[in-house]
Amino acid sequence: MTRILLIGGQGQVGWALQRALAPLGDVTAPPRLGAPGLALDLLQPATLDEAMQRLQPDVIVNASAWNAVDAAESDPAPAFALNADAPARLAQAAAERNALLVHFSTDQVLPGLGDQPQDEDTPPAPLNAYGRSKLAGERAIQASGCRHLILRTTWVHSPRRTNFLRAMLARAAVADRLQVVDDEVGCPTAADGLADATAHAVRAVRAQPRLGGLYHCVDAGAVSRFDYVRHLLTEARQLGMPLRTRPDDVVPVSSAYFAAPAARPLNARLDARRFEATFGLRMSPWQDGVRRTLQALARS
Ligand SMILES: NC(=O)c1ccc[n+]([C@@H]2O[C@H](COP(=O)([O-])OP(=O)(O)OC[C@H]3O[C@@H](n4cnc5c(N)ncnc54)[C@H](OP(=O)(O)O)[C@@H]3O)[C@@H](O)[C@H]2O)c1
Repeated sequence: MTRILLIGGQGQVGWALQRALAPLGDVTAPPRLGAPGLALDLLQPATLDEAMQRLQPDVIVNASAWNAVDAAESDPAPAFALNADAPARLAQAAAERNALLVHFSTDQVLPGLGDQPQDEDTPPAPLNAYGRSKLAGERAIQASGCRHLILRTTWVHSPRRTNFLRAMLARAAVADRLQVVDDEVGCPTAADGLADATAHAVRAVRAQPRLGGLYHCVDAGAVSRFDYVRHLLTEARQLGMPLRTRPDDVVPVSSAYFAAPAARPLNARLDARRFEATFGLRMSPWQDGVRRTLQALARS
């Protein structure tokens, strides 16, 4: 039976992976905090060594990340510790026991030029410290020589934790109008679909190691944040969610208007065709994933 160590199993993607990876083998998802010998905190390397000894995993799935994009501009050290140094240690641990390392990255390693979906050959050039830390993590894994699957994704949403979708719904519940940027375009990607696609790819790479490598994995289609929010509010109202803001009360503004500390790529479209062709999969339209997340939120 395949032994799978899942790190970050309480996060958006990690939680969905707990379900999606279950048919592949024995999944152990240690909490970050907890009793000595059971918890795994990537910032305490001894806990990784202990987990590797205890679990002897065939597959290590890293769904952890430091995602505080704006905070990383003034204090990049935590982002580099978790997004670059920790993946480097995981890669070393994976190489030592010939395990497969599965890792997630982001469109923010790319500059986001143009208005077309960006494929895996697009030269990286991060605009912010978070992107630089994630790129350093990718490169450490690639340089380690370990078997790996790196999946870059973007605009992840799920009924759990904090994400753009939930933040917009929370604001729409109390505000009469919302200002939303209309010059950032990306691919809203549901954590559950991403997890399912990941599990299929893991199975394929286990069977055919040559399929490993770096891929873009996002839901199909693309939308500006402004149109995304209008879509969200329309669907959420149909599901009976009590929202003050109506879709017509969403006001477009440019990203410069908010002057966030970290610059974001204006083009967050990723091209998932190489992933789909390699693994014989089709990513579902972003609207389907959004509907699932909204339905789960409406039920709760
Ligand atoms: N969210 C997005 O829009 C987005 C976009 C592009 C790429 N990604 C990538 O997708 C992956 C998953 O992101 P996500 O949105 O699922 O993240 P998330 O919801 O923020 O979850 C992150 C997880 O990492 C864990 N973690 C934090 N510090 C840790 C440490 N020191 N040791 C071990 N675990 C630690 C957290 O543990 P606790 O549960 O204890 O807090 C949490 O379970 C990441 O690689 C991220 O960069 C995300």
